[in-house]
Amino acid sequence: MPVIRFLRENRDVACYPGENLREVALREGIGLYGVKGVLGNCGGCGQCITCFVEIPEGCASALSARTGVEDLKLRRRPDTWRLACQALVNDSLVVITRPQLGLANKDSQVSAAMASPLPPGPICWPEPVAIESESEGAGEESKTGPGGGEAVATGDEAP
Ligand code: FES
Repeated sequence: MPVIRFLRENRDVACYPGENLREVALREGIGLYGVKGVLGNCGGCGQCITCFVEIPEGCASALSARTGVEDLKLRRRPDTWRLACQALVNDSLVVITRPQLGLANKDSQVSAAMASPLPPGPICWPEPVAIESESEGAGEESKTGPGGGEAVATGDEAP
């Protein structure tokens, strides 16, 4: 299972094969965007060009192939840059977020990150989170979660 080593943040994050790199980063609170992207990113449609990441040589095959959108939008950027929203994670890799900011001692940091073994990731999908749903019109709350399981009590229920 893939582990993403976010070099700038000094964090290893496990994910599942095929997960979208942008979604994993956002879920884990990784600062993917600069100011422009924070103020107005496209939500992962490949249009705003603010979710740049750099993938060091040797890690490129860990992601899905570059999309046509990336070919178009990144034509004036280094070949090692990707749009996180367009990339699916297939294997463990090292990622540099916001490469436009530069990174002190980048080459030595990348070498150290590549040399240090990546820990094993999760081996199965997590259990689905039970949610409480409301029945429309009946005014009565459902007591079962998805798949017929029992809903999780939130403590907000009336006595
Ligand atoms: S989020 Fe807009 S291009 Fe990736």
